[in-house]
Amino acid sequence: MKSPQFSKLFTLVLAALFSFSWAALPHENFLHCLSLRSNVSSSISNVIFTRKNERFESVLEGRLWNLRFNSTDTPKPLVIVTPTQVSHVQATIFCSRKHGMQTRTRSGGHDYEGLSFVARVPFVIIDLVNFRSVDIDVENRVAWVQSGAILGEFYYRIAEKSTTLAFPGGVFHSIGVGGYISGGGFGLLFRKHGTAGDNVLDAQFIDVNGRILDRNSMGEDLFWAIRGGGGGSFGIVLAWKLRLVPVPATVTVFTVGRTLEQNATELVHRWQYIAPDLPDEMYASIQLRSIDSTQDARKTVVANFIAFFLGTADELLPLMELRFPELGLTREDCTEMSWIESILYNNGIQNQPLEILLNRTYRSPINTPYYKIKSDYVKEPISQTGLNGLFSRLTDDVAASTIIIFFAYGGIMNRISEHATPFPHRAGNLYKICYNAGWQEENNTYSQIYLDWARRAYSYMSPFVSKSPREAYLNYRDLEVGSNNIGYTSYAQASIWGRKYFKDNFDRLVHVKTKIDPENFFKHEQSIPPF
Ligand SMILES: Cc1cc2nc3c(=O)[nH]c(=O)nc-3n(C[C@H](O)[C@H](O)[C@H](O)COP(=O)(O)OP(=O)(O)OC[C@H]3O[C@@H](n4cnc5c(N)ncnc54)[C@H](O)[C@@H]3O)c2cc1C
Ligand SMILES: *[C@@H]1O[C@H](CO)[C@@H](O)[C@H](O)[C@H]1NC(C)=O
Ligand SMILES: *[C@@H]1O[C@H](CO)[C@@H](O)[C@H](O)[C@H]1NC(C)=O
Ligand SMILES: *[C@@H]1O[C@H](CO)[C@@H](O)[C@H](O)[C@H]1NC(C)=O
Ligand SMILES: *[C@@H]1O[C@H](CO)[C@@H](O)[C@H](O)[C@H]1NC(C)=O
Ligand SMILES: *[C@@H]1O[C@H](CO)[C@@H](O)[C@H](O)[C@H]1NC(C)=O
Repeated sequence: MKSPQFSKLFTLVLAALFSFSWAALPHENFLHCLSLRSNVSSSISNVIFTRKNERFESVLEGRLWNLRFNSTDTPKPLVIVTPTQVSHVQATIFCSRKHGMQTRTRSGGHDYEGLSFVARVPFVIIDLVNFRSVDIDVENRVAWVQSGAILGEFYYRIAEKSTTLAFPGGVFHSIGVGGYISGGGFGLLFRKHGTAGDNVLDAQFIDVNGRILDRNSMGEDLFWAIRGGGGGSFGIVLAWKLRLVPVPATVTVFTVGRTLEQNATELVHRWQYIAPDLPDEMYASIQLRSIDSTQDARKTVVANFIAFFLGTADELLPLMELRFPELGLTREDCTEMSWIESILYNNGIQNQPLEILLNRTYRSPINTPYYKIKSDYVKEPISQTGLNGLFSRLTDDVAASTIIIFFAYGGIMNRISEHATPFPHRAGNLYKICYNAGWQEENNTYSQIYLDWARRAYSYMSPFVSKSPREAYLNYRDLEVGSNNIGYTSYAQASIWGRKYFKDNFDRLVHVKTKIDPENFFKHEQSIPPF
């Protein structure tokens, strides 16, 4: 049947045929293939966006958060497909393979190197924005969540049904479920319940041949790999069955700021000995940034001691008095709230209605428009001199919008084997460091100075952090820890960055990749290579 939409698509394909040089042929053939392939061509035509489509830019930028990847020299896709049915995903994979187009899968679009929507070869984005259903089963404490849902809407749907259930996910509301879980995923509950990947019970997965697999049919090796081995390597996860965890109706949060003049260095130094041993019910982090000093014209550093506690202020205060009296925590510093309110609090939007979590285009104030991230793991406390060297770099002018965060490890993370999932950073880590170099306005030549600052700070820290390998967190993707040549990747080349993210789990990931996608269709600059 030739529906009007089908004719529209056909016209579009013809227009494309005449307006592109022969060098763009794969993409014309690809579009033609899609139009023939799909038995639902009328519906698929509504989900294909070429550069000629007036909505192309808005679809592309709808989940483009880091404006570093919105410059004129950032390569753009030839086509964006926003599937509404599984058959659209299958058809896109089939036609991309047939016509030599690379695909990139995008869920929330927060990849720190833009790998879900930037490639340096002709490519198609499979954007899962329409795969975003969330089904909460309170009785059995499980949820089925599609990859294109954002964490905020997942949390909102849990809170709608229960005040005492939660999911151990990240704080930042607009992160996509798909990329987040694929990369491990940590958040406020990780010292109590582990990573997001530790709490996956089943998944709906689509492979390079378009087969739809679940935990049973994919087998335990692949099921292991998708729970932290990184997105974009094995296939596309369409949905996840997740374990919901109990939380008390009242949790307590605090943020206590201390400047260098208020002994921040001593306190941060002390925190390293205390925080990793706090009870599992506690999440503890320190946010470091520069501020203008009240005492003179120079800048100082403020260390914000942040905590989230599964319990009341009455329980938290004596615990802190016993373990960390130097901080001088008072009852006024503590705020009791529900778990869902703590998500708003940690996004810096505590005065907003909960519905803001459903807003997929809302840009949180805690994020600068441009940013570059790096990560480290710390296994031995850093001396005060060592810390001061880092703090002095934070007072550089170029670091004015930069924050450095220490996240205490310990808790259940010490008791889960480093081979349980591909995420290997478990026992032996005191805390993780996140260097989040941020800036406000783009100027291609100027932005280099921020990137250079991040490299210098990272280089300065090398004596103080994990070595051989210098471990890094996959979800804080950083192409500077090593990357593939996506045309041809050697095992040796990939194992440089692979061991930093996965330690010796890397070898098992290569084994899984070799079985599920031997021709390396799903690939990017840091995807797992087949043998
Ligand atoms: C402000 C901010 C705060 C953050 N806070 C945290 C935090 O608290 N904890 C934490 O763990 N991480 C955090 N992150 C990192 C975040 O988890 C990762 O960037 C994650 O990959 C984002 O997922 P996404 O779906 O939004 O990204 P995308 O850019 O859509 O995807 C990321 C990668 O996964 C692939 N992918 C996406 N969807 C799928 C799929 N369905 N199947 C297979 N592959 C897929 C993509 O191709 C890409 O390679 C934060 C990031 C930002 C920007
Ligand atoms: C055609 O569409 C129907 C309904 O959407 C689906 O069940 C069927 O599997 C599709 N067939 C192919 C070949 O894609
Ligand atoms: C991205 O760049 C385009 C073109 O320069 C601009 O029109 C658009 O506003 C930018 N997007 C964002 C979110 O800033
Ligand atoms: C900082 O530490 C010194 C020495 O331990 C102490 O005397 C001083 O009162 C502390 N200052 C603040 C603001 O806590
Ligand atoms: C969502 O957030 C965006 C950006 O902040 C805002 O422009 C828009 O009005 C919000 N939408 C709703 C429905 O609140
Ligand atoms: C970019 O930054 C450089 C270095 O500070 C400055 O000289 C130049 O004027 C800036 N250009 C724009 C367009 O802002």
